[in-house]
Amino acid sequence: MGDLQRGTALVTGASSGIGAAVAAALAGQGWRVICAARRVDKLATLARTIGQGAVAIALDVSDAGSVGSLAERLPDGWREVDLLVNNAGHDVGGRRRFDRGSIEDWATTVQTNAIGMMRVTHALLPGMVERGRGHIVNIGSIAALDVQPGGAAYVTSKFAVNGFSQALRADFKGKGVRVTQILPGLVRTEFAETRWAGDTARAEEFYGKFPVVLDAADVARAVVYAAEQPPHVTIAELVVVTSA
Ligand SMILES: NC(=O)c1ccc[n+]([C@@H]2O[C@H](COP(=O)([O-])OP(=O)(O)OC[C@H]3O[C@@H](n4cnc5c(N)ncnc54)[C@H](OP(=O)(O)O)[C@@H]3O)[C@@H](O)[C@H]2O)c1
Repeated sequence: MGDLQRGTALVTGASSGIGAAVAAALAGQGWRVICAARRVDKLATLARTIGQGAVAIALDVSDAGSVGSLAERLPDGWREVDLLVNNAGHDVGGRRRFDRGSIEDWATTVQTNAIGMMRVTHALLPGMVERGRGHIVNIGSIAALDVQPGGAAYVTSKFAVNGFSQALRADFKGKGVRVTQILPGLVRTEFAETRWAGDTARAEEFYGKFPVVLDAADVARAVVYAAEQPPHVTIAELVVVTSA
């Protein structure tokens, strides 16, 4: 862990992929990290690996009750969140033409990626506003800039992340709360496996089609970069793609 005490960060979707990498990278720079997701066993393992600088908390961003009780469930001494990384998200049932997919899958994707992000932000913003400082980093996607077929729900959710990030930045301009959106290209994580309901072979085949894909750590570096700017600097947006 670094020598500096940077503050307290909460990372949603920290049980895997980009979220786990962000939690580890922030902890490595001296942040205290609250690792949040539904799979608490994975969070506990991550928090143990990080050590004293991390705690795990169960959070379903699509569940109003889970998000509503978040602040009171945070351990003593961990309630003042300085940095929120809204990362939880999925593309369950995705890569299908809209009419051929399940409306329940589409709705869940938007509920998680867009409404979940808004719920968690709404729960943690009052503390930031009261303290006059805070930073919200939303993990969007290149899907909001480069629309591909078969992505109706996912693209909708990431357009929402894009719009929400811009609108929130406008709301809090000059008020001490910074808002950043990170828009990654293709990252090798559990994302494709979750999209295809645990079909690892299909996920492997999918990633194998690309000459190069990003690692979760590549995105984590972008989050750390945005988080560590001096207070008068806001990294509004960062698009992270492969060089090939
Ligand atoms: N992989 C890519 O190519 C890529 C590219 C651009 C953007 N992104 C974005 O990056 C973010 C992270 O994805 P990833 O690639 O790291 O995928 P991942 O490895 O599948 O991780 C997704 C994370 O989201 C969490 N999550 C899903 N639903 C949740 C819910 N209802 N409540 C709380 N946590 C939830 C999962 O945890 P639990 O299942 O334990 O709850 C998991 O930790 C997503 O927003 C995704 O859209 C990914």
